[in-house]
Amino acid sequence: MKIGIYPGTFDPITHGHTDIITRSLRVFDKVVVAVAPNPSKHPLFTLTERLEMICIVMEKMKQVEVTHFDGLLVDFVQRYGGHAIIRGLRAISDFEHEFQMALMNRKIAKQVETVFLMPSEEYSYLSSTIIKDVANHGGALTEFLHPEVARQLQDRIRSLKI
Ligand code: COA
Repeated sequence: MKIGIYPGTFDPITHGHTDIITRSLRVFDKVVVAVAPNPSKHPLFTLTERLEMICIVMEKMKQVEVTHFDGLLVDFVQRYGGHAIIRGLRAISDFEHEFQMALMNRKIAKQVETVFLMPSEEYSYLSSTIIKDVANHGGALTEFLHPEVARQLQDRIRSLKI
């Protein structure tokens, strides 16, 4: 069974991430969504909240497991028995950062491969930060987020403004 590990901060999960997961299932038998706490990014949602939202979005996708990891990504991949790291390449601007991470990961653990997938064009401009900005200014979120994720994001922004 080929297992792909899809790591990220997922603050919160967007349709762009879901698109990559769906595409990954054409290549891997199982995809593990691995959430990094990433406190340095000062996430809007706690790790538990991010995991719960991903579980809701992935509810019907039985070949997807949702978990979290601490420490180095390559250590998690090897501990889990994953066959490759999955990353989405949205635009040329992603390339340098992704190239650097993939090469560093290979340097640390040469047997761990990284596989890049291109999201659908309609999601190629998405990022969690840009969606939080849209939400912060009262914009519609239905095109970008699962309804439950949109609701939680709107609630969180509202509570921060009180
Ligand atoms: N659709 C929509 N948005 C996408 C996307 C897609 N297909 N792919 C990426 N993004 C967005 C994310 O939402 C995120 O947006 P934000 O910065 O506005 O929050 C951004 O692109 C990229 O962030 P993310 O996917 O969270 O990755 P990252 O660059 O922050 O790295 C890890 C996350 C977990 C892969 C990395 O920090 C890591 O490996 N950490 C473990 C420690 C480690 O091993 N370090 C050494 C690495 S070389």
